Amino acid sequence: MEDIIRFFDSHAEKWDSYWKEEEFGIIRKILERSSLSQEDSVLDIASGTGILVPYFLEFGVVASCIQGIDISPKMVEIFSQKFPQIPVICGDFLLKTLPENNYSYAIIFNSFPHFLEPEKVFEKVSKLLKPKGKLVVAHTKTREALDRHHQNSGSTVRTHRLLEDKLFLQYYQKYGFTDVILDNSLYFYTQGVKK
Ligand SMILES: C[S@@+](CC[C@H](N)C(=O)[O-])C[C@H]1O[C@@H](n2cnc3c(N)ncnc32)[C@H](O)[C@@H]1O
Repeated sequence: MEDIIRFFDSHAEKWDSYWKEEEFGIIRKILERSSLSQEDSVLDIASGTGILVPYFLEFGVVASCIQGIDISPKMVEIFSQKFPQIPVICGDFLLKTLPENNYSYAIIFNSFPHFLEPEKVFEKVSKLLKPKGKLVVAHTKTREALDRHHQNSGSTVRTHRLLEDKLFLQYYQKYGFTDVILDNSLYFYTQGVKK
């Protein structure tokens, strides 16, 4: 875990400069298709520098109803500088205590392959969501492009791969999610609704 923290810490300062204009369009599509609304209380898991925050606000989510969490202290520091009004926690999502039955919308954006125990992520998110709450796992790239990107990175994350489709489907079901969507046509997108 230390190497993952070091890796993202080392990229935090430059993180926002890596983004390309077309990726912001994909963020809007992801939030739109997952029906994010002003009623939602949002958990942004592996929130990085808060790249999603302006879009949550654009969709009408109330600032105090957004909670970020990220394991990299530097990412969290930049998040807090950019958005002092938005609560963000520094720590491992699987280890930090968060309120159960509390959020209506949890998103793991551009981050899922970095979770080394993916099944435990489903188990925990299921406890944190309210009934009818939604889990969205999405990327700006397709599965193939994403796995290539990590493989060619020559860095700590080179062995990180996106969970197989069949395991996504299995874990959604095992941890009480229904109405599952899995789509890899233009970019990778999955969602499930907690029963
Ligand atoms: C590729 S970055 C994406 C950040 C942000 N979602 C974005 O799109 O800009 C992956 C993030 O996952 C975070 N991360 C990795 N493992 C984590 C864990 N176990 N708990 C919380 N955050 C984690 C990293 O620190 C990093 O900020």
